[in-house]
Amino acid sequence: MIKPHGSHVLTPLLVEDMARLKALRAEAQGLPSLVVSSATAANAVMLGAGYFTPLTGFMNKADILEVAQKMQTTSGLFWPVPVANLTSDTHGVEVGSRVALRDPNVSGEPVLAIQTVSAAETLTDKDVDEICQSVYGTTDDAHPGVATFKSQGKTVLSGPIEVLNLSYFETDFPETFRTAGQIRDEISNRGWKTVVAFQTRNPMHRAHEELCKMAKDAVHADGILIHMLLGKLKPGDIPADVRDAAIRKMVELYFPPNTVMITGYGFDMLYAGPREAVLHAVFRQNAGCTHLIVGRDHAGVGDYYGAFDAQTIFDDSVPPGALEIEIFRADHTAYSKKLDRVVMMRDAPDHQKEDFVLLSGTRVREMLAAGEDLPVEFARPEVARILMKHYADEAS
Ligand code: ADX
Repeated sequence: MIKPHGSHVLTPLLVEDMARLKALRAEAQGLPSLVVSSATAANAVMLGAGYFTPLTGFMNKADILEVAQKMQTTSGLFWPVPVANLTSDTHGVEVGSRVALRDPNVSGEPVLAIQTVSAAETLTDKDVDEICQSVYGTTDDAHPGVATFKSQGKTVLSGPIEVLNLSYFETDFPETFRTAGQIRDEISNRGWKTVVAFQTRNPMHRAHEELCKMAKDAVHADGILIHMLLGKLKPGDIPADVRDAAIRKMVELYFPPNTVMITGYGFDMLYAGPREAVLHAVFRQNAGCTHLIVGRDHAGVGDYYGAFDAQTIFDDSVPPGALEIEIFRADHTAYSKKLDRVVMMRDAPDHQKEDFVLLSGTRVREMLAAGEDLPVEFARPEVARILMKHYADEAS
């Protein structure tokens, strides 16, 4: 199987040994504690679940700046996005000591992880701007990822962590949430060798369905890993439970049996476009996938990125050999009225814009909110019905 990133074995930081876990829980009671940001908690979950192999904890300032500028840590590990514990509250935290990190997303704020604090450093305003410009391509506070990054505070608490649990993901999404190790195990049990991953934060319509099928055929994959984000999104995005139900219905009705694994991971959306696409590739490699689909405006928001920047970054900025996973580059995909099927636009060079059934995300939301059917060329009716019900429930 494809090897994990920068390591021969996965290095999940979740403590599974019961005796160690008990000792850590007892230790946590006597430690100073910090309620972390949701973004920090999400990083801890990804570290805990093995997706961020081979990292051992939160990056220090030098690593954050190096990763932002050059996509590598100071020790030379290829890594596309800072993995930081940023805070404005350092009350009771001492360098060289341990601190209990409390979960802001679970009632009662239970301890999520214990960190050994190697350093507490401060980012200047200039550092914050440089990081945002490099990672998100903008310093604009209207960008949801930038707003989240800036809202966390400027103190960088770095150091290794031990993770006590995987937050709300296992309890809220028992059928769907999987660790990187669990996905590797299932791929191996199925006997799959070539696996194409599909990242998504949205319900899947016909274009997405066909993208998966086209990618599977093109790379001769044994199967498809639909791997959906289960963490926080910006307002207006479809919640994970609704999306999960819609995706399950689509797979049940429109994919051959045993060709798709429906799974999810516990991370908050960064909306970092190209940089997030590279992070997506890193953690799909860690989950045992050989290919990742990157299509139009991958992990994008608003007009901050060019439609295919998340593909060209792999050519321009990922050094050869840095990743083993390969990218399946998908062109804009839509239903062709001329051909009566979903196609990638590069495969229909004679078409004009009006030959395709195209609907913007905003228009789709408007139609669903108004209880209007989506065109069958755009969405499977069974999927549209689930989404329509969500909007009706929201309105009532
Ligand atoms: S994302 O933020 O998770 O990337 P989304 O769930 O909408 O958003 O997209 C999932 C994947 O499908 C991404 O790789 C994206 O580029 C691709 N994609 C979505 N819609 C299209 C489309 N119409 N044509 C080509 N690729 C698309």
